[in-house]
Amino acid sequence: MSALINKSRLIVQSTSKSIAGEAYRTLQTNIQFASLNKEIKTLLVTSTIPGEGKSTTISNLAIAYAESNKKVLLIDADLRRPSLHKMFSTSSRFGLSYLLTKQCKLEESIIDTFIPNLSLISSGPVVSNPYELLNSGALSSLLDDLKSLFDIILIDSSPLMPVSDSLIVSAKCDGVLYVIHYGKVKKEAAQKGIASLRNAEANIIGAVINNKKNHKVSYYY
Ligand SMILES: Nc1ncnc2c1ncn2[C@@H]1O[C@H](COP(=O)(O)OP(=O)(O)OP(=O)(O)O)[C@@H](O)[C@H]1O
Ligand SMILES: [Mg+2]
Repeated sequence: MSALINKSRLIVQSTSKSIAGEAYRTLQTNIQFASLNKEIKTLLVTSTIPGEGKSTTISNLAIAYAESNKKVLLIDADLRRPSLHKMFSTSSRFGLSYLLTKQCKLEESIIDTFIPNLSLISSGPVVSNPYELLNSGALSSLLDDLKSLFDIILIDSSPLMPVSDSLIVSAKCDGVLYVIHYGKVKKEAAQKGIASLRNAEANIIGAVINNKKNHKVSYYY
């Protein structure tokens, strides 16, 4: 694996000594420490507003896990502005929206990516009712089935403002990672987002401060 990265948002490389790659590996280690009391098998990423770096963070974290020999599944639960199929250059035809509406089989939807140990369930075709789909019991039972197939399931989602799709999913996951784009989101807005997750009884395991300017990723809990 050598020159995957600069073209896309995928930064972690096994052969890379890059500071950015190291930051995601450190993030993985920190999450493992944060989950000593409760095993985290399903981890959701969300943020306050669009464009804070959720998809970048969860994809690079997934690669870090895969490179440490974990069997990893990434799910694109951002049914409004999906992006993981583009990042990993796969089809989004048989993805989550099709699975939840029983229009495809589980085995059709799990795609191997170019990263060993890393599989992807893309968003599937965009639907008109993402909130209702994610709110259904179908997602809970799907996650239960997937937990026995993978060591860790990492889930991308939409931002909390202006829609609440990710609140629904957060309550179904073992942990939530909150991405904050340094200098872009207002402190009060981020605090409101975190409060709404707490109200939804989400288990926030930490915040990632994403600084695009210098590819810096810091973790706080
Ligand atoms: N740490 C980083 N360093 C450099 N560029 C970054 C970093 N994080 C994100 N970006 C860039 O910022 C843009 C938005 O990132 P990304 O798509 O991950 O955000 P998002 O929160 O998933 O957005 P959306 O809310 O639209 O789903 C992308 O062009 C991505 O390449
Ligand atoms: Mg995204």
